Amino acid sequence: MLKIKNIDAFFGKIQVLRRVSLHVERREIVSLIGANGAGKTTLLNVISGLHPSQNGSRIFLDGEIRGLKPEKIVALGILQVPEADKVFNPLTVLENLELGAYLRRQDQGQLVPEMEKVYQLFPILRDRQGQLAGTLSGGERQMLALGKALMGQPQLLMLDEPSLGLAPTVVSEIFRIIRSLNDRGITILLVEQNAKEALRICHRAYVLDTGRILLTGTGEELLNNEEVKRAFLGKDYRGKWER
Ligand SMILES: Nc1ncnc2c1ncn2[C@@H]1O[C@H](COP(=O)(O)OP(=O)(O)OP(=O)(O)O)[C@@H](O)[C@H]1O
Ligand SMILES: [Mg+2]
Repeated sequence: MLKIKNIDAFFGKIQVLRRVSLHVERREIVSLIGANGAGKTTLLNVISGLHPSQNGSRIFLDGEIRGLKPEKIVALGILQVPEADKVFNPLTVLENLELGAYLRRQDQGQLVPEMEKVYQLFPILRDRQGQLAGTLSGGERQMLALGKALMGQPQLLMLDEPSLGLAPTVVSEIFRIIRSLNDRGITILLVEQNAKEALRICHRAYVLDTGRILLTGTGEELLNNEEVKRAFLGKDYRGKWER
């Protein structure tokens, strides 16, 4: 579905991605893990056209997307749920969902059944339709961000740290939802600090280290990899793969 090859990215003179290559197959969950500052968010921003990168290629559904404007990339079906500013705080829950649909579709007639699906997945959002997004709890805001992205009918959903700052029970709920979205056919590229959960739910994963892909393998392989265990899982961790 997505194949990126030899991507470099810079902030001024500082290089933050170095010849990064990765691919995501249709219906996969692919996790990208790595320490703070490794370049994970920048990589997602390059894919969605928000951060410039002159070289390498990025093929989505057999077409080159390098150089396309972010709105065109969204229109093709790549939706990113960013790390920060994932919802529009001054707008209500309902308005955020409508906006999610507006970004991608011509046929507004479909909006109601689509919104019904989102409400079934996140009943709390139905109860909070009229509430301003800025007053939601962290977990509710993450659910709204996912719901808003789903309203755009993504083919590839890129999630940047969806579990960040959430209480453990909410974290497991979010991971459960990610898996169920994947079961419904949505392909997912997941960036996470929570390496343990990210490796448990993925099919394959990549480890990014200061701008380079250091390791790749199935979730199970990486959970049992000594280097990954040392760097991300704590020394006594025993890999257990749950897909
Ligand atoms: N706007 C910016 N200006 C200058 N440098 C930046 C900017 N944004 C990010 N960087 C630098 O680029 C590098 C990669 O940052 P990036 O946000 O992609 O990392 P990350 O892997 O997403 O980290 P985190 O896990 O903390 O979100 C870091 O060294 C960061 O300091
Ligand atoms: Mg980041």
